[in-house]
This record gives sequence, structure tokens and C-alpha cells, in this order.
Amino acid sequence: MVPPGLLPARRDRVTIRIGATLAARKGAVSGSQKGRHMNEQHLAAFRSSVNRCVADQAFLQDFYDRFMASSDEVRAKFNNTDMPAQKRALADSLFLLAVAVQGQSTSPSWRQMERIAERHSRGAMDIRPELYDLWLDCLMQAVAGHDPQYSPEIDAAWRSVLGEGITFLRSRH
Ligand code: HEM
Repeated sequence: MVPPGLLPARRDRVTIRIGATLAARKGAVSGSQKGRHMNEQHLAAFRSSVNRCVADQAFLQDFYDRFMASSDEVRAKFNNTDMPAQKRALADSLFLLAVAVQGQSTSPSWRQMERIAERHSRGAMDIRPELYDLWLDCLMQAVAGHDPQYSPEIDAAWRSVLGEGITFLRSRH
């Protein structure tokens, strides 16, 4: 039998321990989510810059002109491509990426990215992983030329979002 004087002290200890455990778990969860999710400021800067860029009709044309001129291999890949449709698909995939980087790898937007990755893989169009460096350089030059608010912060925001998409597509080559 427990001596009467010990009961309140034991109960206090239990209460404190449970409180501490819950607080620690809460901290751990929000901490890990912060680590997994894209930096909010980057994401907001990316979204608003994408909107400004695509509002400019010449943006995606400028990107594809640069990309085609960057290598014979790239130009050959687009030999039979309907370019107006391709420009729309790329604009859509920029918005898709902005959603994907916010969520779990099982989200619908990553499943759509899977489909895009499959088309770029060696079993389909066989886009070599090295070509993504050219793609990024050309796209960032187009952003610099078409976003009137372009700045080092905007540049960093695009690179951090696109970096996730590029890593994903390369990993499925
Ligand atoms: C993260 C980077 C990239 C993204 C987000 C992206 C996005 C897309 C999307 C959304 C499509 C349309 C897919 C469909 O309709 O099923 C597409 C098609 C295509 N992409 Fe990419 N792409 C990327 C990088 C590249 C690179 C580096 C190349 C190198 C040449 C490339 C070449 C092509 C070609 C050839 C097509 C197909 C055109 C056609 O249907 O004829 N892409 N891309």
C-alpha cells in the first residue's frame, strides 16, 4: 500500500512528465515539417514571379529560343513538337511545381510530376540528366529578362523550387 504522503507528489511527477512529453513531441513535429516544406518566402516570391513572367507573351518564346540555341541535342528533341502546346504545358508545370513542393511526396501534384518524369525518362524521350543544367540556365535568363521585379532573391526563389523538380526528374531518368 502507498503511504498517504507520497500520492500527491507521484501524481505531480506524472503530470509534469506527460506535459513535457507532449510539448517535446509538438516541437518535434512542427520542427520537422518546417524542414520538409519549402521556405514560405521563396514560395511566395516564386509564385508572384511566375505570374509576372507568364503574363508577358514573350517569356516562354524567349526561353525556348535560348534553349534550342543552347545545343543541337536539345533542338533535335523538339523536332516534332507543337510549340504553342509545349509552352502551355511548361507554364502549367511551373504552377504544378509550386503546389508540389508544399506537400507530401504522395500528393496528387507529385503523381502528376511522376507522369512528366516518365515522359522525360530513358524509356521515353531519354532526356539526359546533364541537359537540365542548360534548361535551368536558359529559363533563369528568360526570367531575368521578363520579370520587371527580378532580383537576387527572386533568382534564389526560382532556383530552390525548380531545383526540387529537376532533382525529381533526374532521379527518374
Ligand atoms: C524540370 C525541368 C522540366 C520540366 C518541368 C519539364 C516539363 C515538361 C512538360 C510539362 C512537358 C509536357 C509533357 C506532356 O505533355 O506529357 C514536357 C515535354 C517535353 N520536354 Fe520537358 N521539362 C523539363 C526539362 C526538360 C529538358 C531538360 C528537356 C531537354 C531537351 C526537355 C524536353 C522536353 C521534350 C522534348 C518534350 C516533349 C515535346 C513533345 O511532346 O514533342 N524537358 N516537358
